[in-house]
Amino acid sequence: MRPVQLSLTVLSIILLITAFRFLTPTSSSDDWPAYGGSTEGNRYSTLQQINRENVQNLKLAWAYDTGDEGGNQCQPIMVGGILYGTTSSMKLFALDAATGCERWRFDPFADTTKTRIGHPIRGVLYWADGADKRVLYSVGPWLYALNAETGAPINTFGQNGAADLYQGLGDAKTLGHDPRPYRISITTPGVIFEDLLITGSSVSEGGDALPGYIRAFNVRTGKLVWVFHTIPLPGETGYETWPKDAYRKLGGANCWAGMVVDPRRGMVYAGTGSPSVDFYGGARKGQNLFANCMLALDARTGQRKWHYQTVHHDLWDRDAPCPPNLLTVTHNGRRVDAVAQATKDGNVFVFDRDTGKPLFPVQEKPVPTSPALPGEHPWPTQPMPAKPAPFSYQVVNEAMLTTRTPEARAFALKQYRDSQLGQNHPLPNKKGSLVYGIGGGAEWGGTAVDPDGVFYVNGNNMLWWVQMRDNPALKSAKTQTRGLALFNQNCSACHAIGNKARTQTAGTYSNLTDVDKRLTAEQVQTILANGRGRMPSFGHLPKTDRDALLSYLLKLDAKPASASASNDIHTARVTGQRANRDGFPYEPPYLSNGYEQFRDADGYPAVKAPWGTLNAIDLNTGEYRWQVPLGEHPELTKQGIAPTGTENHGGPLVTAGGLLFIAATYDEHLRAFDTRTGKVVWQAKLPAGGFATPITYQVGGRQYIVIAACGGRYGLAGGSKFVAFALP
Ligand code: HEC
Repeated sequence: MRPVQLSLTVLSIILLITAFRFLTPTSSSDDWPAYGGSTEGNRYSTLQQINRENVQNLKLAWAYDTGDEGGNQCQPIMVGGILYGTTSSMKLFALDAATGCERWRFDPFADTTKTRIGHPIRGVLYWADGADKRVLYSVGPWLYALNAETGAPINTFGQNGAADLYQGLGDAKTLGHDPRPYRISITTPGVIFEDLLITGSSVSEGGDALPGYIRAFNVRTGKLVWVFHTIPLPGETGYETWPKDAYRKLGGANCWAGMVVDPRRGMVYAGTGSPSVDFYGGARKGQNLFANCMLALDARTGQRKWHYQTVHHDLWDRDAPCPPNLLTVTHNGRRVDAVAQATKDGNVFVFDRDTGKPLFPVQEKPVPTSPALPGEHPWPTQPMPAKPAPFSYQVVNEAMLTTRTPEARAFALKQYRDSQLGQNHPLPNKKGSLVYGIGGGAEWGGTAVDPDGVFYVNGNNMLWWVQMRDNPALKSAKTQTRGLALFNQNCSACHAIGNKARTQTAGTYSNLTDVDKRLTAEQVQTILANGRGRMPSFGHLPKTDRDALLSYLLKLDAKPASASASNDIHTARVTGQRANRDGFPYEPPYLSNGYEQFRDADGYPAVKAPWGTLNAIDLNTGEYRWQVPLGEHPELTKQGIAPTGTENHGGPLVTAGGLLFIAATYDEHLRAFDTRTGKVVWQAKLPAGGFATPITYQVGGRQYIVIAACGGRYGLAGGSKFVAFALP
């Protein structure tokens, strides 16, 4: 081809692409119309008003105070000049995207028949058919459809605008129990495809977990359209990878971290999490399909096209932690439509979108099968991609332990020597294990991809200390309270009790060791019954269980009841819910200590830095473009220590301006990185930590970068604002 011909071809391709863009229903590329930026979820924008040359001039354009303080993971959307997001107490708001002025707001709890509940909301969805424009989101077991212009509930959707998320989970007959008393919500929004809202869910990780089926609801009516059983029913593929009738006793295998859709293929791609219960699989001998899988489903019917399991018989809580990305790469000289999934243990799996074949070799590596907990049958191999190399730590040894101070090192060494090591070891009883990846690796903030096939992921190098213990509820009820068992089952995912140094910044929420000094029995009772902020309600637990928890938390067994604690609390020592014929709720013989990080006595990670990284990986070749530390602990930097990177929660945004925007770090900054080099080219301190993923859009000829800056993680102060940056 002569050069002129070539450039004409290129030109016509560009014209075609541009034409196609205007034909797609998600309208203008100035918008950010979906969670993740588009249904493909690439957190990428073609906007380039803000670029490498001028980014240092970026200034605060507006700030919107939601009035609700506390952690907020919401990545908003922007459609036609209106920005939609949520507050930390679950309200949905609409703003003028250019000014941050509020248009309307919806409070689900204005309807007092709805139980107040708290959980993360990572985004909202938008659907339109002509003048019928809707915003959809979920609060607790309700899926809401609101008029996008007024915020009024759509009365023809569900019951007065709220559809029931228990639809399709089964009932006493088909599931063996009524799902209704048990927890379900949607923390990461699903996807819109034609008139369907396809979604996963967040469920308990304990013995009372509901099954994490993937479902499609009609966007017009809220009615269930299809269900894919992630824990198969008799006669379905994968049923044989579990004990008989496991679906009636166990739950989880849920897609909580979001999914993506390929509209041209009519295919939805979703990563699933571990089955219940985390860390002990004695009741689920087998490979456990379709837990921990990349699933490719027909978006119209829910039929499975292919699956790929990234963790067999998960014993480490290695859920798919973020939505996959759809991208096109050149592989062996051929353009391949691919789907990439980052994992909690720092790997990236890249599959052919049509066949599910990995593009880079994956080896089934033998892993230790003993020592294990009695009753456990660890799977003998686990898949390890040969490429790309993992973006987070895989091994721990003495050389990797902290050298920050001699005391820190001594502290770390001692615990290291007392612990079992090894990434894929089944967890033993009593002896603690050091394991990466429980909180990521990659996390819910998501990953970004640019049109060149470069994949951007922020990673955590956090090591966790997990200790299994006998389930006290199954031991002598006289000497051990049921409260501890209930705490481990229901609360330890978010709260710790015990060693403060290790746990002070673990997870998100307060250490409850001294809660008896802070709160009265009534206060704790109220929090348990109603929830508060992002603390979910435990009103569904029988009162006897809530009392047992109270008795444990307030140490009521050990001392006389305080004046405010009623007798009935004091005497609560209980055998709570009895399991049904199928063994639901399941009472595992072993429980974990919860989620403790391996930290030194000053609270810093007890492995060497970097503790958090930002990575650019070329998925055409599987090679790294760069890896840099993400964030810093300012007080350590002041001591002359090179930026360590920090634990990070929140995701990246990439633009055609050659920039990657990310907050997510302990130091509460929003930063812009040069996508070619990984160099920080701009940063600004946020009013509170930005533990969310930013978005960008253009309105009135001006490009904005917006992020929720509501703090409330790692022991940092809470905030209540969404902030927007733009060029002056
Ligand atoms: C999904 C995470 C999550 C789970 C699970 C959870 N909590 Fe909470 N909890 C929170 C958050 C967030 C707060 C802070 C609430 C606020 O913003 O006011 C909190 C606050 C509390 C408080 C008040 C603490 C204080 O220092 O004021 C108590 C007590 C409490 N939780 C007990 C429990 C118990 C008992 C359970 C288990 C039955 C439980 N929580 C399960 C997230 C959780």
